[in-house]
Amino acid sequence: MKRMRIGIIGHQFMGRAHSNAWLQAPRFFDLDIEPVLQIACGRRLLPLKEFAENWGWKEIETDWRRVVDRDDIDIIDIAAPQYLHHEIAVAALKAGKHVFLEKPMAMTVEQAQEMEATALISGKVHYLNHNYRRCPAVRLAKNMIDEGKIGRIFHWRGAYLQDWLTDPEFPLTWQLEKEKAGSGAQADLNSHSIDLARYLVGEISQVTGMTAQFVSERPLPNKNAAAFKGGSSGEGMGKVTVEDASFMTVRFVNGALGSFEASRFAVGRKNYNLFEIYGSKGSVSFNLERMNELQYYNNDDQYGEKGFRTILATDPSHDYITNWWPPGHIIGYEHEFVHAMVDFLGAISKGQEIHPNFTDGVREMEILEAGLRSAEEGRMIELETL
Ligand SMILES: NC(=O)c1ccc[n+]([C@@H]2O[C@H](COP(=O)([O-])OP(=O)(O)OC[C@H]3O[C@@H](n4cnc5c(N)ncnc54)[C@H](O)[C@@H]3O)[C@@H](O)[C@H]2O)c1
Repeated sequence: MKRMRIGIIGHQFMGRAHSNAWLQAPRFFDLDIEPVLQIACGRRLLPLKEFAENWGWKEIETDWRRVVDRDDIDIIDIAAPQYLHHEIAVAALKAGKHVFLEKPMAMTVEQAQEMEATALISGKVHYLNHNYRRCPAVRLAKNMIDEGKIGRIFHWRGAYLQDWLTDPEFPLTWQLEKEKAGSGAQADLNSHSIDLARYLVGEISQVTGMTAQFVSERPLPNKNAAAFKGGSSGEGMGKVTVEDASFMTVRFVNGALGSFEASRFAVGRKNYNLFEIYGSKGSVSFNLERMNELQYYNNDDQYGEKGFRTILATDPSHDYITNWWPPGHIIGYEHEFVHAMVDFLGAISKGQEIHPNFTDGVREMEILEAGLRSAEEGRMIELETL
């Protein structure tokens, strides 16, 4: 079996999710390529060392350029904040590496376009990680749509709701700084929903957006501060420079209407990634907090017996499931990342494309930017590059 060495940039939330997935992928799936956890990169030596020891990364490095420049590294896994995505991805592709990149793709459409162009010239596999596409229940929705079971799609409703910023004492982590995050709920949460909407419904042609900021100043973070977890230093306040919530209404090229709600102020909602798709023959609905289930309404059911039914997407017929457990032995968030690694390595070994890739990422960035521009200018934005 061919071995490929990975260099990972970033070792916290996504660093852990990716490390676990690289390890699990060859244990549960038959792969042509064995992923080797070669070198981990982060800024702070002590937590980086602990991370590397825990997950079995052989070496550590604090300068990502030295990882990208190494001849013996085949794959660069970018699990760092998005202000670094463009620079690292372009350097990695130019150095002849395959790139596994966390969402959102970049800070601007221009950056994304340059990344896409570099990727296309490189001939290497480029993947933008929207892991929710690889949840079996979401794949079931996709398969049902493709088989015509939902019919003509009229509506998309996406809502990605969290509540970790509701406390005004929550610190000013990098996710709340425009120069590091690009934007707030839009880049972080709506990016996922846009990817699912493009995957399941199709391309978007018109966007109207509205944003809100509920807390404008927050305590400065201490060195251990992290999203969801908190950790403020008590040494002064800093300005929040992104929106807390971002809503959009859109028109799809196929005529469907859609709405997107993204908020980190939806009290009680933790990682409530919901979509509802309404079509002429039926409807499907998914919520990540019940991620093994798909709700399905079949309009052809007998009158008097119609209603939403819950399909447990854990049968051998459901994508990825045969490699895990018997029916009903449910899977979790981390499994989506394993599926992403499996498909990414499969794309490398077969010389194929994988989606979403950097071309999808450019489309996504255009929609994200259009939503924010619409909110700022108070008008609908037409996406002209379709
Ligand atoms: N797919 C998902 O569901 C999902 C979930 C969360 C985050 N993300 C994305 O993953 C990326 C990372 O987010 P996170 O939540 O893991 O952030 P995090 O704050 O938990 O971790 C960021 C990591 O990047 C490292 N880093 C920062 N600057 C660096 C530099 N100059 N050189 C090397 N390493 C550097 C830090 O040391 C840290 O290990 C973001 O783009 C985010 O949008 C995706």
